[in-house]
Amino acid sequence: MIKPRLLFLRYLVFFLLLAMLSTGCTEKKKHQEFTIGFSQCIGSDLWRKGMLEEMRMELSLHPDANFIYADADGNSQKQVSQVKKMLEQHLDLLIISPNEAQPLTQVVEEAYKKGIPVIVIDRKTASSLYTAYVGADNYQIGKMAAAYIGAAWKEKGNVIEVMGLPGSSPTIERQRGFADGLKPFKELKISKEIYGDWLQPNAAAELIKIQPELHSAAVIFAHNDVMASGAREIVKKLNLNPDIKIIGVDALPGKGAGLEMVSSGVIDASILYPTGGKEAINTAFKILNKEPFLKENTLTSLVIDPSNVELMKLQWNKIRSQQKDIERQQTLLDEQKVLFKDQQLVLNVTIITLVLAIVLGGLAFYALLENRKINKNLEANHQEILRQRNQLIEMSEKAKLATEAKLDFFTNMSHEFRTPLTLILSPLEDLLNLDKIKSIAGHNLKLIHKNVYRLLRLINQLIEYRKIEYEQMKIKASPNNLVEFIKEITESFQHNAQKRNIDLRLIAKKTEITAWFDANMLDKVIFNLLSNALKFSRDQGAITVDIWEESDFIYVSVQDNGIGMSSDDALHVFEHFYQAEGSSTKGSGLGLSLSKELMRLHHGDIKVESIKNKSTSFVVSLPTGNTHFSETERQQQQLDKSELYEQARIYTTDLDEPTEQQQNLSNSLREQSILVVEDNPDLLNYLSQKLSSHYEVFTASDAEQGLIAAFREVPDLIISDIVLPGISGRELTIKLKSDLRTSHIPVILLTAQGSTEQQISGLESMADTYIVKPFNYDYLIANVNNLLKIREMLKAHYTSDISSAGKPQVSRNLDKKFLNDFAGIVEENLGNENFNVDDIAKSIGISRVQLYRKVKALLGCSITDYILSRRLKKASYLLINESYSISEITYMVGFSTPNYFSTVFKGKYGLSPTEFKKNKSV
Ligand code: FRU
Repeated sequence: MIKPRLLFLRYLVFFLLLAMLSTGCTEKKKHQEFTIGFSQCIGSDLWRKGMLEEMRMELSLHPDANFIYADADGNSQKQVSQVKKMLEQHLDLLIISPNEAQPLTQVVEEAYKKGIPVIVIDRKTASSLYTAYVGADNYQIGKMAAAYIGAAWKEKGNVIEVMGLPGSSPTIERQRGFADGLKPFKELKISKEIYGDWLQPNAAAELIKIQPELHSAAVIFAHNDVMASGAREIVKKLNLNPDIKIIGVDALPGKGAGLEMVSSGVIDASILYPTGGKEAINTAFKILNKEPFLKENTLTSLVIDPSNVELMKLQWNKIRSQQKDIERQQTLLDEQKVLFKDQQLVLNVTIITLVLAIVLGGLAFYALLENRKINKNLEANHQEILRQRNQLIEMSEKAKLATEAKLDFFTNMSHEFRTPLTLILSPLEDLLNLDKIKSIAGHNLKLIHKNVYRLLRLINQLIEYRKIEYEQMKIKASPNNLVEFIKEITESFQHNAQKRNIDLRLIAKKTEITAWFDANMLDKVIFNLLSNALKFSRDQGAITVDIWEESDFIYVSVQDNGIGMSSDDALHVFEHFYQAEGSSTKGSGLGLSLSKELMRLHHGDIKVESIKNKSTSFVVSLPTGNTHFSETERQQQQLDKSELYEQARIYTTDLDEPTEQQQNLSNSLREQSILVVEDNPDLLNYLSQKLSSHYEVFTASDAEQGLIAAFREVPDLIISDIVLPGISGRELTIKLKSDLRTSHIPVILLTAQGSTEQQISGLESMADTYIVKPFNYDYLIANVNNLLKIREMLKAHYTSDISSAGKPQVSRNLDKKFLNDFAGIVEENLGNENFNVDDIAKSIGISRVQLYRKVKALLGCSITDYILSRRLKKASYLLINESYSISEITYMVGFSTPNYFSTVFKGKYGLSPTEFKKNKSV
């Protein structure tokens, strides 16, 4: 999402750019662009050049106008096509000086009719279809020339007229005006008229041709100064009367032009004929800007002769210099305009920058205010966090104190436990030494003895751990022969190893390796490792203890080929209270973490490598020498053999083989049987011994064995631990309850997992009861009895009325289906005298024994009893309700002879079939 601040900035910049653009546009609109075309009949002579210059001067005041110029070189056809070409382009106005009137008339009319304004300059067309005319009155010019000759010069005699281009309007008009102007002067007579086409050479050539007329001529009137100068040339060339007066038209200023000709006496006079370039452009813009204008713009003429020629030249020069000034100013103006434009740009940029600076400044200020607000909030948050942190510190301090107090209490209690345990231990050992008592309670006393040591070891480890953790237990290292030390510890396990055929070996290349260690600490590490190795080794296994030196370390490894552990277990095995999967009964989770701490105090380490079901290897490392110990840590300490002996007892007693079960009881057959699945051999022995006084007992140390035993023996009840190596007791229960062979057997789950969720999970596996350890034996036995009693009641219920056996009220679907199938098969075969148990077992798909046990468990009677009872029941029904003979009924219910049937029937009902039928039908 775009922040509003940024959005505002974007709008602002956009607005400023728009403003700049619109300023540029309005500037342009002030000067609308016009295209003006100018078609010149001939552009080579001075007069026409003057006309063009005048036009350009005037156009400089309209810098936005386009000006198209075309020179027809005195060729009318060329001029027509040039005009046409111009008209094809976009043209706002046409200025034309037609070479000849007639040939140009059509194209000019065409332009006019198209709506393009047309200004005719100097020469005219033969039509009046034009917008405006600019030029002097050529008729008047002719008239003025005649009047000047007759009145001013008072000339008499012949006059030769040298005319311009035939067909061009000035030629026609000047000739007419001259002729009219001479009329008052009777003594003047035009003796010859010739065409000079406005050009000096043409005029001279034509004059040569009329020499006789020239000899008698008093005056020559040429339609322009150029042709007049040609006449003077011929006069001189032919040595004619030098007093012949020559008068021209144009009186153009500039070098070699008309004014100079008059001034230098080349010609005697000239009629001023302005070019009208400036006026034409002025008129054009009036038309284009829709301002009022004159259609006929007649320019003033006057006669220039030696009396005013100098004044004219002077005026001309002045005008010329003014013109130059104007041009200069024009240039200056242009420069100023450029400067102004540049400055305007700079000004615009400055204004935009200024506005942007103000806006950005505003934004910066706004951001500053916002930042302050945020900082304030942050500060408040920070303060709140600080307050909460302090609160947490305070709480954790309190919690720490509480934990300390709890741990202190715990440690004190642990210390307290040691005394009573010791006090239990010594009288117990006394009792064990008494043969009389040993024979009566030896087994139980040994169990107590072993478990007292187990408790003692746990309590010692707890106290040790606490010492390291909170009391910063100091190490007391001294130099000792490590090989000897390890050997002694290893030997104390030899007895247990041999009993289980475990090959326990110590391998050391040297008999003496001196190492610095605290014997009272290191012994616990090695004892713990060896005790673990034995615990997790299988009978006939191998345990190797290795000692070797390498670089700056001495290593001791304890390796076994026992059950191993998963890589995940190996990763956590040194964390305190960590228990590997399925080993709940074998370790407290304290021994290895204590070992790790003890090795840390030695500046050494302990590591493990293990492969599940294959091997485990623990390696202890001790740095050589003593430089790693501080002065206070180095303390001479004698190896205390009694301490070693004590530790050996603590660590090895626990490993003693479970006391032999009294087999005699289990051998005797009991009415009901119980399967106990438990991985703790002592508990397993204890339970089987206790239960065997009333039940036949089967045992299994894991779930897999338990399952096999359950299928084989089909016991009346199963007691199983939940945490077992491999398959759990919970999974075992699910398997049992979903198998037809064992689904009817009640299961009691026995475990140390006491949370409500765990109990619910246990019951969800369809276990019948869940008992939490430590349990009271009487409570367990009450539960066993209870479940067996319920089973009995169900049996009674099923068999109370055999006829209803087809529809048993069993809640368990699997058992219900079994009874249905079983009863169905029996009903179908009642008439078959060869029908036997094997036939049923085959139909249902279980073994003979399993069938026997299952029927016994569910119906409380043997299969043959059941079949016999059903046969007799059916026979009694047939006797009462049907009219079959006794012998017929005998075969219908599967008896081989009527005699045998009668005997059996009497045995059950106390009456022979005949008597029974008689009695009931009465
Ligand atoms: C220039 C010119 C002038 C004359 C005018 C008439 O071309 O010959 O000398 O006055 O044209 O159109």
